[in-house]
Amino acid sequence: MNESIIVDVADKKSTISRDIYGHFSEHLGRCIYGGFWVGKDSDIPNINGYRKDVIKAFKDIDIPNLRWPGGCFADEYHWKDGIGPSANRKRIINTNWGGVVEDNSFGTHEFFGLCDELGCKPYVCGNVGSGTVQEMDEWIEYMTFSGESPMAKLREQNGRKEAWNLPFFGVGNENWGCGGNMRPEYYADLYRRFQTFVRQYGKEKIMKIAGGPNVDDYNWTDVLMKNAHWLMDGLSLHYYTYEYRWEDKRSSTEFDTEGWYRALKNAFRMDELVRRHSEIMDKYDPAKRVALVVDEWGSWYLPEPGTNPGFLYQQNSVRDAVVAGIELNIFNNRSDRVKIANIAQAVNVLQAPVLTEGDKMVLTPTWHVFHMYKGHQGATLLGTSAAYSSAGLYEKDITVPGLSVSASEKTDSATQKPRYLVTAVNTDASSSKKVDISFANLGASIASASGTVITGDCMNTINTFDDPERVTEKTLSVTVKDADTVSITMPAHSVASVTVQI
Ligand code: AHR
Repeated sequence: MNESIIVDVADKKSTISRDIYGHFSEHLGRCIYGGFWVGKDSDIPNINGYRKDVIKAFKDIDIPNLRWPGGCFADEYHWKDGIGPSANRKRIINTNWGGVVEDNSFGTHEFFGLCDELGCKPYVCGNVGSGTVQEMDEWIEYMTFSGESPMAKLREQNGRKEAWNLPFFGVGNENWGCGGNMRPEYYADLYRRFQTFVRQYGKEKIMKIAGGPNVDDYNWTDVLMKNAHWLMDGLSLHYYTYEYRWEDKRSSTEFDTEGWYRALKNAFRMDELVRRHSEIMDKYDPAKRVALVVDEWGSWYLPEPGTNPGFLYQQNSVRDAVVAGIELNIFNNRSDRVKIANIAQAVNVLQAPVLTEGDKMVLTPTWHVFHMYKGHQGATLLGTSAAYSSAGLYEKDITVPGLSVSASEKTDSATQKPRYLVTAVNTDASSSKKVDISFANLGASIASASGTVITGDCMNTINTFDDPERVTEKTLSVTVKDADTVSITMPAHSVASVTVQI
């Protein structure tokens, strides 16, 4: 029997914020240096120091925003180290990530320049862990004040007269851990104090994002919301998918069926985390004004053998495509509260959409999922229901939903008619699935349907620098069964996208 998905086009829900498809770039390993930035004198083709190939890769997936400078690096970042003539910048130790020298050649100006090249919004994370209120106050002034002031003058001396727009600012990172090991009560007070000095100089509102909970620390969310919800626009959540246990990481490529299902089960846990944190937020903010900002998510496995373990460089396989497909469907489906999300991290770190090696670049399976899902950005979420069997290892009690799905509607600019995008994940490690997708309340017959699918020969297939197209998007055959139903066959371990127009 076919599995089935019903999309109710009359059940229009929240807008899927474009910013759910955001990325994260930390001064960690080769994310910034060698990833986005090679410097103007590099032989690697670049525009003002930014790698051309990497810029294009992110423009092709319509990157909406980029978070920087960390992560834990932000908790020790002193922004004045990264301005002025590059040769004079302070050389510091990157204590969190490999103990390497950070020469600060990539700083505030270079970050805003990168966002300009990418055409995306900047999301800057401030330092509450080891920084001062004055330092944060001055950074905001430096970035966003356009009148006469000491920091605006300093910015101009450094070559930039105009203030920048800063739509998102994080008031701290992981303040329960690398950002100061604080108790929520203490951080809530510090949040109240620091955010006071995130002043609104420009016309465009700065969204203030509080450092939120680690995984299932519901008490953190409760204390923060109770004590400061009216002073914040967003609360972050960090949750990574690992395979077995957080303290006992496994390889990104060498796993068996059990490793497949364990990782997927952990990926699906995101739904429970988002739901439960949102329920707590609802108590204090029933109108859902404060966004849940999942500004670190993705898979975290063992670093590739032979690489600096502090650089968190890992491979990216079909399993990661499936993890990305599941998480992005969850964010879409919970877009009433989740307004921003950032996969960790953009280039060469953890679940990276892009990997580089010298002058070579490869698009990972995860990149392709962002490409297949980009039509959801800014679209209207539609209600879906699905009937499917579960998948997994029943004898070991490791089971997951057999399908993950989300659907949205947007007006096609050419025809001015609605177009529907359905994205689905077949989580089964070994079996393909026939899936009927029906559209309830369509009000007209399906005029056209097309699809794309991504999978690999095996569940751990990867793209390499020498063979970069082993796991790429392929055309998916979509059969129009009747006026409101299409049918597809999803290979084992695959992600599909289906576009339907009336
Ligand atoms: O993304 C890597 C690290 O994970 C970040 O620096 C930190 O915020 C989190 O613990």
